[in-house]
Amino acid sequence: MDKVAVLDYGSQYTQLIARRIREARVYSEIFPPDVPLDRLRGEYRAVILSGGPASVYDEGSPLPERALFEAGLPILGICYGMQAMAACLGGRVIPAAQREYGRADLRFEARDPLFEGVAAELPDGRIAVWMSHGDTVLAPPPGFARLGGTANCPVAAMADPGRRLYALQFHPEVAHTPQGRRILENFLFRVAGLEPTWSMASFVEDAIEAICRRVGQGRVLCALSGGVDSAVTALLVHRAVGDRLVAVFVDNGLLRKGEGESVRRTFREHFGMNLVYMDAAQRFLDRLRGVTDPEAKRKAIGAEFITVFEQEARRLGAVEFLAQGTLYPDVIESTPHRGPSATIKTHHNVGGLPPDLRFQLIEPLRELFKDEVRQVAKLLGLPDGIVWRQPFPGPGLAVRILGEVTEERLEILREADAIVQEEVRAAGLERELWQAFAVLLPVRTVGVMGDFRTYAQVIALRAVMSQDAMTADWARLPYDLLGRISSRIINEVKSVNRVVYDISSKPPSTIGWE
Ligand code: XMP
Repeated sequence: MDKVAVLDYGSQYTQLIARRIREARVYSEIFPPDVPLDRLRGEYRAVILSGGPASVYDEGSPLPERALFEAGLPILGICYGMQAMAACLGGRVIPAAQREYGRADLRFEARDPLFEGVAAELPDGRIAVWMSHGDTVLAPPPGFARLGGTANCPVAAMADPGRRLYALQFHPEVAHTPQGRRILENFLFRVAGLEPTWSMASFVEDAIEAICRRVGQGRVLCALSGGVDSAVTALLVHRAVGDRLVAVFVDNGLLRKGEGESVRRTFREHFGMNLVYMDAAQRFLDRLRGVTDPEAKRKAIGAEFITVFEQEARRLGAVEFLAQGTLYPDVIESTPHRGPSATIKTHHNVGGLPPDLRFQLIEPLRELFKDEVRQVAKLLGLPDGIVWRQPFPGPGLAVRILGEVTEERLEILREADAIVQEEVRAAGLERELWQAFAVLLPVRTVGVMGDFRTYAQVIALRAVMSQDAMTADWARLPYDLLGRISSRIINEVKSVNRVVYDISSKPPSTIGWE
């Protein structure tokens, strides 16, 4: 299989580059910029230098070693990657008076396979590209030809086709460069001569085989959370070792309506998995009694989870392996922008187990992005409800009940939330929204029902759009939908007489209320 290495100089788009390459069905991996050349040579057939916030003029700015360019590998430098390439190979880079950010029109100055099939978008043959840079290459290094320029940037694309060294000042990986995908594919297929052979189906086969080899006749433990990552992890391991996988689902009583039952049905009945379903609701409730501070709730829930999981692990006797749904964004340490999965799993990564309970870790999703995990989930036949499940915090409904968590308040929130989920799904918005949920507030307000005055609970509705949970905006839900949710909650959920909609963005608010 052909593989591409993406060297990460810190751009927020590094992961996007790796994804675009995989979307072109070529396997790609991200490395820190100082990865030793020996690690790349032989195994990787092309290298991409990402963008990044540094300037080649900064002291200690990360620069590739010259030997990288002499290794015979096809290389594409993007943005800072281009400036670094130019600086290393004797081109002239000048610090910009100001950053250029946004759309620019690229005119072609030479024909090259890199731009094959790229159609002119403007009457004079130019195409739209997306720029975000400070420094600029003024003169390409010796041996390089100028392939294109923009109004502010005389060398916006350059190449030494003989050595297969290419560089772009603009970002082909972002959607704002409409033909960027084509340009990247040209680099992969026409310049580097790679084959598009990476697919999720082959990933599944390879992953199952690798787990078989690794586990041999051993046993594997896997904690299911109800989410897609742990579900796919368990299914892959199950395909590999069958009943030697014990999946453990801890029902902490803080789940949404029907969730526990759906996990039981799906994994035990549908997939025939050896599933230990632990009803620990009462234990969690006891532990949460009187706790109102959000962080204290989180700590209590995390600690209780470890206690329950540890007990079960000890009861099972010798189990050598623990399977976890770690994803690629969790693995890439040098990437400053981390996906939501890092946070979402805090209570399921069972990191706090006592030292005598040592497992060898199996992490079959370490190389995948979330959308790829969803593709695998579909291939493995997981129901849509799990494949498209919105992120749900480990501490569950406990951090959506402001103040103390009691059985009664859980019941109110669970019913209200079920209505939100139903209506959002019926409106076809489930996949578009990052999250939509109900929050139970610690106040009561006055209302009137029939001829009676009520003094009852308030539900806040939260629905956000987001790419990665780092930032989010409140969703402009249609008024009709808001109206339906509100009247259903007030009519159907006992002791709620008011619904409000949260119109704050993150930052400065957060997505959750606690
Ligand atoms: P906030 O509320 O900080 O949340 O904007 C960002 C994302 O993380 C999820 N979240 C959690 N996930 N344990 C988790 O597993 C937690 O304690 C936790 N707190 C927040 C939240 O649902 C959102 O998607």
